[in-house]
Amino acid sequence: MAVLPLPTIPRRITLFFIIFFAFSALAKAERYSVLSYGAKPDGRTDSTKAFAAAWSRACASTKPATISVPRGRFYLGQVRFQGPCKNHAILLRIDGTLVAPSDYKVIGNAKNWLIFENVNGVTVSGGTLDGQGAGLWSCKKSGKGSCPTGATSLEFSNSNNIVITGLASLNSQLFHIVILGCQNVKVQGVKVSAAGNSPNTDGIHVQSSTGVTILNSRIGTGDDCVSIGPGTSNLWIENVACGPGHGISIGSLGKESHEAGVQNVTVKTTTFTGTQNGLRIKSWGRPSNGFARDILFQHAVMNNVQNPILIDQNYCPGEKNCPGQDSGVRISGVSYQDIHGSSATEVAVKFDCSKKYPCTGIKLQDVRLTYKNQPAEASCSNTGGVASGLVQPTSCL
Ligand SMILES: *[C@@H]1O[C@H](CO)[C@@H](O)[C@H](O)[C@H]1NC(C)=O
Repeated sequence: MAVLPLPTIPRRITLFFIIFFAFSALAKAERYSVLSYGAKPDGRTDSTKAFAAAWSRACASTKPATISVPRGRFYLGQVRFQGPCKNHAILLRIDGTLVAPSDYKVIGNAKNWLIFENVNGVTVSGGTLDGQGAGLWSCKKSGKGSCPTGATSLEFSNSNNIVITGLASLNSQLFHIVILGCQNVKVQGVKVSAAGNSPNTDGIHVQSSTGVTILNSRIGTGDDCVSIGPGTSNLWIENVACGPGHGISIGSLGKESHEAGVQNVTVKTTTFTGTQNGLRIKSWGRPSNGFARDILFQHAVMNNVQNPILIDQNYCPGEKNCPGQDSGVRISGVSYQDIHGSSATEVAVKFDCSKKYPCTGIKLQDVRLTYKNQPAEASCSNTGGVASGLVQPTSCL
């Protein structure tokens, strides 16, 4: 069979089409600069409306969208990035700093400063959030009362497929980052920084969420570096440095009598420096149907930590509505592998479990903790489990 010669397409035309299609692919990601909506990088002009306007455009578009925040300081009141959106690929790219009102009366009762609700497929990349929380902290510390609770700096609520990357969060009034009621969230390369004595400034709080990953982050703050609330499952934390702060904490659990449990949590390769706690599980000392199970703490270094390993089931702030009661929270299947370093107190391993529901399946493997260069002590109550490998202090299991 004879082969028909194909007409040859001149090179120049081919090249034209390649360039044309490359450009139209790029053009697909729409770009919204907050400057085009009136935001000013001067740290003073209220840019709240400009951010909200850029968000509604991106949210209403069906094409992938980038909201860009250039360098400079942008003063913002509360911004609600609300969904549901038509768009499932929105990138908020921050090169500058978002600045909260320094007067805590402005957003102190609003619960949140920046909140994303009911969104799917949102990435927040880069930038700095300056919560300017110092005024509220001193109000709270003055003990005069009548201070507002404060606002969380950044929250994702009821959202799926979220990425937070390369973000710095400074001096939040309350929690820095909250993940609540979400699925499939990746937090990576985040830096949280607030004074070691700032009240309730948790670094990252995860609750009622599944499939959250926190990687390669450095957290120094006045409360828990990471706190894990009821209803959290399939959480992975790896390569996190904590200090100052209250450590990585599962809890408080069992505050409510009816509460979802915490399941399948991995905390791997962590460093704690000068913190109040290292790896902690904490529950209220009162009835609840809550639980914590299948927890792995692996490869942790403690540097002068007050309570490196702690299960406390007798949490009862203010000694109100719990004294004399036992925690209902069932704690089971908790492994500590390769945990070493120094304790700032004599008792480095403390398991204070519920009398009614003792902890079960606690495993210690290769745990080596010292106090003043001597083996530290361990204390157990209502705790069952096994120790293997070298365990110092001698296990009390
Ligand atoms: C536990 O969580 C991890 C993610 O952190 C996930 O990959 C794994 O499949 C989960 N295991 C179970 C039994 O659900």
